[in-house]
Amino acid sequence: MKYNFDEIIPRRGTNSYKWDSAKEEEVLPMWVADMDFRTAPPVIEALRKRVEHGIFGYTRVPPAYYEAVVDWFSHRHSWQIEPDWILYTSGVVPALSAVIKALTVPGDCILVQTPVYNCFFSSIRNNGCEIVSNPLLYGNDTYQIDFDDLERKVADPKVKLLLLCNPHNPAGRVWTRPELVRIGEICLQNNVRVIADEIHCELVYPGHTYIPFASISDEFLANSVTCISPSKAFNLAGLQIANIVSVDEEVRKKIDRAININEVCDVNPFGVEALMAAYKEGEEWLEELKHYLLHNYNYLRIYFQEHLPHLTVTLLEGTYLVWVDCRALQQSSEEIAGRLLEKEKLWVNEGSLYGEAGEGFIRINIACPRELLKEGLDRLRRALKR
Ligand SMILES: Cc1ncc(COP(=O)(O)O)c(C=O)c1O
Repeated sequence: MKYNFDEIIPRRGTNSYKWDSAKEEEVLPMWVADMDFRTAPPVIEALRKRVEHGIFGYTRVPPAYYEAVVDWFSHRHSWQIEPDWILYTSGVVPALSAVIKALTVPGDCILVQTPVYNCFFSSIRNNGCEIVSNPLLYGNDTYQIDFDDLERKVADPKVKLLLLCNPHNPAGRVWTRPELVRIGEICLQNNVRVIADEIHCELVYPGHTYIPFASISDEFLANSVTCISPSKAFNLAGLQIANIVSVDEEVRKKIDRAININEVCDVNPFGVEALMAAYKEGEEWLEELKHYLLHNYNYLRIYFQEHLPHLTVTLLEGTYLVWVDCRALQQSSEEIAGRLLEKEKLWVNEGSLYGEAGEGFIRINIACPRELLKEGLDRLRRALKR
């Protein structure tokens, strides 16, 4: 390995949301989705140069930025984006919120596949829309889409959008082409637009392939809006940069208007530099990162098999967020997460955050040096054995 993902870099005292939100020093945070690794060296170098310039005025996004996005998606995911399909904004959540505002009116319904990333719920509600759930089906340690339920629910004329999470947080699925085709066809037949949140798209493990929903066909491209960012893969969440991709000029105008209404039309100089460096020079680092994350996941699985065999670790096809079925404990997720924090100072996310379907589960962020992962698992075992 060229890069040292084993290095433990103290983050406490850096105003880290993940590390500095706990009241007690000893808390080990394995919750919010950012990583305890330094980003790719070319990104740090680009940021260093920008910092040394010393002037941090309002930022414009140069043609090289669009080229970096286009080249990356073409080269890595065989998706040919045109630069003018791209709108930038300050994060994927701001992107989703603007897209919802642009394409719905208050009272409209939006489909989500639960358990799912909790901000989907707030973005829908904040725009006056209603959540309709198409719960995923759990079995054999993984999730499937309930297509019969989906067909029934999209048929409601009040449903205007499906918020697709690909790869799926927290279910760990990377949707296959047949699954995406079926989703896309059902939505097309019912005039429901697909909003694809593909923020986790780089974090996909061997044996699985991320397929950009919009790359599947011209019809799917026309009937979708995609939200992407290098922030998860390159650990740049605090730099607040994301992109919205839509082929439809009218849709883009509406989204652009919503971005302006929401006042999220300005990005910062660091986000722009970091994105360009990550997409242009970060690939080698990313490949090693994925390798390391997969080892962490395998370590965790074996640990559960040996020490906590009554709990089931969901298969992880993508993301660094591990979803664990703790229903055998016969406690609510809130009680379990509370017990971990209270007894062993381990902070994980309670599954119920991700909708009713997450009750009895917890979500563990494994994007940390292996020593920290081991420490977290020991704490988990001790807390749950008591
Ligand atoms: C599916 C998904 N979308 C969006 C985000 C957050 O995006 P941002 O920080 O760019 O707003 C997350 C963070 O975990 C996520 O899991």
